[in-house]
Amino acid sequence: MIRLHPNQMYINFFWLEMESSRIRRQWLNLLVCALVLLEGEGYIIPKTLVQNAVSKGAVCLDGSPPAYHFDQGFGEGINNWLIHIQGGGWCNDVTSCLYRKDTPLGSSYKMVDEVSFYGILSNEQQYNPDLYSWNRVLVRYCDGSSFTGDVEEVNSTTNLHFRGARIFSAVMEELLAKGMRNAKNAILSGCSAGGLTAILHCDNFKTLLPSGANVRCVPDAGYFINVEDISGAHRIEEFYSQVVSTHGSAKNLPTLCTSKLSPGLCFFPQNVVSQIDTPIFIINSPYDSWQINNILASGAADPNDRWHNCKLDISKCSPDQLRIVQGFKMEFEKALSVVGDSPSKGWFIDSCYTHCQTESQVTWSQSDAPHLANITMAKAVADWFFGRSPFHQVDCNYPCNPTCKNSQQADLKDHPGM
Ligand SMILES: *[C@@H]1O[C@H](CO)[C@@H](O)[C@H](O)[C@H]1NC(C)=O
Ligand SMILES: *[C@@H]1O[C@H](CO)[C@@H](O)[C@H](O)[C@H]1NC(C)=O
Repeated sequence: MIRLHPNQMYINFFWLEMESSRIRRQWLNLLVCALVLLEGEGYIIPKTLVQNAVSKGAVCLDGSPPAYHFDQGFGEGINNWLIHIQGGGWCNDVTSCLYRKDTPLGSSYKMVDEVSFYGILSNEQQYNPDLYSWNRVLVRYCDGSSFTGDVEEVNSTTNLHFRGARIFSAVMEELLAKGMRNAKNAILSGCSAGGLTAILHCDNFKTLLPSGANVRCVPDAGYFINVEDISGAHRIEEFYSQVVSTHGSAKNLPTLCTSKLSPGLCFFPQNVVSQIDTPIFIINSPYDSWQINNILASGAADPNDRWHNCKLDISKCSPDQLRIVQGFKMEFEKALSVVGDSPSKGWFIDSCYTHCQTESQVTWSQSDAPHLANITMAKAVADWFFGRSPFHQVDCNYPCNPTCKNSQQADLKDHPGM
């Protein structure tokens, strides 16, 4: 059995949702091994169930209480809070949500009791130089809508609960009571679908915290873009529109967007980010491996699997495929341009073929982690957060950055404690 990096786990979960059920089963087996290995070692933080959320109807897909992992701040960090949202794709209809309901992404009863904190969640100064002493929280993802859903009715046949937005409120309420209401500094971050949560809930998060606090958002790999796939179809647009309608998310998306565009489009960062008032720092690869695998060249868009090798390893792309991939980077930059380059906005757009980089010190902070303008993302984020310097860097085109490892396999190496 191979040992998987946490990021790999999220990638696999996405595939679960968007690929065929044959592939689903295959990945599920792999995942079960991965979870056992992953969550059983290292620096261990226990799970807290939010029991009183149940009476508010703030529950996971299966009706179970939501959960988070909390490591208390110390020293200079006691009044600083990092809230990091777990990723794991979305479910877009009753079938895919029923499937998810019986996994750790739909039920807290299925989640392991402990997880390890790495990267942006680490309590070690050498791995997490500016945030190691903060209160650090990993919010478990169990609603399938990036915490936007809210449907009152529960169908008695399926027993599915679409209550992501209520979960977000209930978890925040509990953390405020645990001391976050005295926060001086706070970051809402997250990876992948959790990165999207950090974007969609950014202003909402800020309103919960003291008005004098420095509150900012740092979405990682959550900037999913609305593009045609290689077959010319708009599958991600259709998929998001199904997510939003299944979960009743429209009322929880920014009204400035939903008053102009159909609600599904307001699930795309590019259509809401310019309306976010809270400072925000976007970490993403313009060659995001999940987006290449599932938006640009998904199984449905590539029925003969011509992209198989290219998707596994970007260095195996044919010249034609690489041209399309470079076109994707241009689309990404166009979608990012609406963020605006004021000092309160920042971005670290490294050309590494990867997905989620903050959750491991290998990519977050190590001396051999991806660098832009000669610094790591951990330093870029901290310099921006504390007002030491703005940061707006988009990398040169693949394969120009020697600090990239550039393969999903690279994620499997050198992970301390694994
Ligand atoms: C409950 O869900 C089932 C399965 O999707 C569906 O056939 C049925 O019509 C639903 N019932 C109600 C009252 O919506
Ligand atoms: C990059 O940073 C290192 C360490 O801080 C420094 O020694 C080196 O000179 C820098 N390189 C450039 C090109 O600025």
